[in-house]
Amino acid sequence: MSATEVAMARAIMSDSVDKTKMYVSLDQSKAYSEFRPRYSEELFKTIADYCRETMPDLGLAVDVGCGPGMSTLGFCKYFKKVIGIDVSETQIACAPKDVANCEFKVGYSHQLPFIKSKSVDLFCSGESFNLMPEKE
Ligand SMILES: C[S@@+](CC[C@H](N)C(=O)[O-])C[C@H]1O[C@@H](n2cnc3c(N)ncnc32)[C@H](O)[C@@H]1O
Repeated sequence: MSATEVAMARAIMSDSVDKTKMYVSLDQSKAYSEFRPRYSEELFKTIADYCRETMPDLGLAVDVGCGPGMSTLGFCKYFKKVIGIDVSETQIACAPKDVANCEFKVGYSHQLPFIKSKSVDLFCSGESFNLMPEKE
């Protein structure tokens, strides 16, 4: 990566850029949903196995910044309930609606009133945590 590219990447990722507006077009979210590389089954299993070491009964997993669900759905076979949350309406519009133990909601990482305190067994974020505001 050249120095200019590094400088550009830093500028895009700086706190002065609003990362909540990165996905506002349905076409962009459809393309993301179709072409974004998938996570391996092994990754979800490894995380679930790790959680089981301290919690044999896996209840609720919450994936924040879930996009159209590729970092979310893999947890459905391990957790009783999985909730994917994303600030982008178009990303959530592209998430599947037919998975019985999974729901997707539009929401902002730092304001999740629909998640009850102490109800979550796994709180995760797939390539999204870096977009969330540091100061909050
Ligand atoms: C690079 S995508 C990752 C999506 C998915 N987790 C994946 O692994 O493909 C980042 C997502 O984070 C969402 N996002 C960014 N800032 C957010 C915030 N503060 N709260 C909730 N979602 C946020 C974006 O809308 C986008 O869908």
